[in-house]
Formats: sequence, structure tokens, C-alpha cells
Amino acid sequence: MNPKTLPREPERRSFLKKTLATVIGIVMGLCPIASGFTVFLDPLRRRSTRSGAIRVTTLEALPIDGVPRIFRIIDDRVDAWNKFPRVAIGAVFLRRTSQNVVEALNVVCPHAGGFVDYIPATKCFVCPLHNSKFAIDGKISDHKSPAPRGMDTLEVEIRHTNEVWVKFQNFEAGHKKKVASR
Ligand code: FES
Repeated sequence: MNPKTLPREPERRSFLKKTLATVIGIVMGLCPIASGFTVFLDPLRRRSTRSGAIRVTTLEALPIDGVPRIFRIIDDRVDAWNKFPRVAIGAVFLRRTSQNVVEALNVVCPHAGGFVDYIPATKCFVCPLHNSKFAIDGKISDHKSPAPRGMDTLEVEIRHTNEVWVKFQNFEAGHKKKVASR
């Protein structure tokens, strides 16, 4: 190359500075766009239900034998733009231990979100994904279980003498404490 056509040192430095400033300007400009996009899409990740407690079943459907039975939770699912009426938004194990006492456990495993099974032969819950084991009351029953906490308990109310209502909620997996999902 003809040495006369090569850019001189000050020109080259100036060129590099301008290029760097342009790149930084583009990156800084993209940050607000990216965060704006995240905020825009955030409602899609949300699942809201119309009320805190949901009617799940009646006491007649739950014998007083302390055996867990699985029930789907049906409610309207709402995100920012759509409403899906009467769809399954989760499931619970219900266990009736006396006339008016019903316990509820979310079926979702607190380790990584698998679905827990009830094993009648051993009277315990097992998550098939990584073999976490839980006692019938939801507490961890095997210290080798990878789950950081027991199954998530949910509040139950008996309304109108025989209706079983559950305050249904999902919780973040992987935490030692219950942290409500958004
Ligand atoms: S998801 Fe249940 S043990 Fe891992």
C-alpha cells in the first residue's frame, strides 16, 4: 500500500474514538428498548384468578379416612390481554381428617416443579422427577430428597356447611421458604 494513502496516527485515533462512541451510543439506546419490551411482555407471565379462595368440592366427596385425593382447580385465567373462563389452573391433594377438617397440598413439587404422586401402598407422596419423598402431611420424609422444603400447604375453608374452598396459590420452586409466585 502506498504509505501516502495510510491514515495518519491522529486521524486513526479520532476514527477509533468516533467508532467507540457510536457503539456505546447504540448499546445505551438498546437498554431502554429492551427493558420496555420486558415490561410490555411481563403481563403474559402472570396468571391471576378472580378471587382468593376457589370452591373445589364438597365434604360428601371426601370420606373421613385421611387419604389424599386429587382435585383440579378450575377458575378463570386472566392475563393482560385475554380471559380464559373456567380452565384448570392447577391441582391439589385434599385430605379430610375429621368432620370439618380438610387439609390441602399443592401437587407441584417444591424442588423443580414436577407433579407429585400419592402412593397408597406406602402412604406417602413421591415426585417422579428426582425422587423427593414426602409424608402424608407434606413434610419431607427422606433426607435424601432434593426438595428444599415440604409440599406447599394451602388454606382451606368450609363454607355453607359442606363446600370446600381452597385459597389456591403457586409458590416458587427451589427455595427453602414459601415464596408466592407472581
Ligand atoms: S421436581 Fe420433584 S424432586 Fe425434582
